[in-house]
Amino acid sequence: MRVTLEDRFRSLLLSWYSKNARILPWRINPSLYKTVVSEFMLQQTQVKTVLPYFERWMHLFPSFKALSEAKESTVLMAWSGLGYYARAKCLHECARVFVKDPIYSYQRWLNCKGVGNYTAAAVASIAFNEAVAVVDGNVMRVLCRLLSVTELFKTKDAAVKIIRPIANQFLLKTDPGKYNEALMELGAIVCTKQKPHCEECPVKSCCKSYQKDTVHLCPHFVQVKRTRCKIQRYWIRDTHAFLLEPSTVGRVFQGTLRGLLELPTMTPQRLSAIGVGKLVFAGRRSIGTKDFTEQIYLPRKKINLESLILLPEFSNCVRVTFDQQQYLAFTGPHKHWISKFLQSNKF
Ligand code: ADE
Repeated sequence: MRVTLEDRFRSLLLSWYSKNARILPWRINPSLYKTVVSEFMLQQTQVKTVLPYFERWMHLFPSFKALSEAKESTVLMAWSGLGYYARAKCLHECARVFVKDPIYSYQRWLNCKGVGNYTAAAVASIAFNEAVAVVDGNVMRVLCRLLSVTELFKTKDAAVKIIRPIANQFLLKTDPGKYNEALMELGAIVCTKQKPHCEECPVKSCCKSYQKDTVHLCPHFVQVKRTRCKIQRYWIRDTHAFLLEPSTVGRVFQGTLRGLLELPTMTPQRLSAIGVGKLVFAGRRSIGTKDFTEQIYLPRKKINLESLILLPEFSNCVRVTFDQQQYLAFTGPHKHWISKFLQSNKF
């Protein structure tokens, strides 16, 4: 019987994966719940970032039932710092749906709010061996390179439309979960976006872009236009506490950061109420296609926080004591910056 490119690729990929798969907590004693949580966390986020969050999550919410019974504020706190917070809210909602009516198919996962093709395919193939191909950024990159697809894609969706049939054609139907994981793993650790490790690649003998020297041209996406924005904020503290407010950048992004706390922004009204002192820090963060520079200032003079939050300009702010902060949900960059400020104790 003729051995096809697909056969050779699958066989090389799986034998590489059996020796090189990373030992990850959701791969040890796997369960549907672990798969669902890890796949939600891994959307747009690297494995090394997810690891501590996953461990903590399993400790706080060990099952669909435990998660379904948690308050949204606790769920957001556990997700705090992972970004793309809609994922946490959708995962919470999925757990509530699941405990009422367990979900055991690709199509039903796809019907859940916030679950796209990628998550539904990953969950269905890994947890119950349904033969559906995962198409995420890693998979698209590997397959585009494998077949030397150099056409220009205007959007991610346009690329998915072309790659999905190819992904289904290459899928190992007898072991789709392992195959999908192996493909994602190859994209994550060998066929990387920048500086791929072609010489060590297990499938280089069947890779068209390796043979044609077009690896750096695949996949080819139109560059998205990024915009730069500046935000000015305050760091206002006393000996026991500091001031926070619910994120205002979230409003611009359809409420993705709704419910998360950040340092208060410097509005004209606040500026006239408390003035402005020294610039103590400037940091960067990106949300979607926007790159923010955030400048953080002290007020002009020492301020009593209890009376400050009674002013109308600060009515949406909360005074958070140093002990309380561990129970609150911050956005990732602000969590990091605030812990730096408190450790340095300089201002
Ligand atoms: N990225 C997303 N899901 C993954 C998985 N299950 N294994 C490796 N990388 C992943």
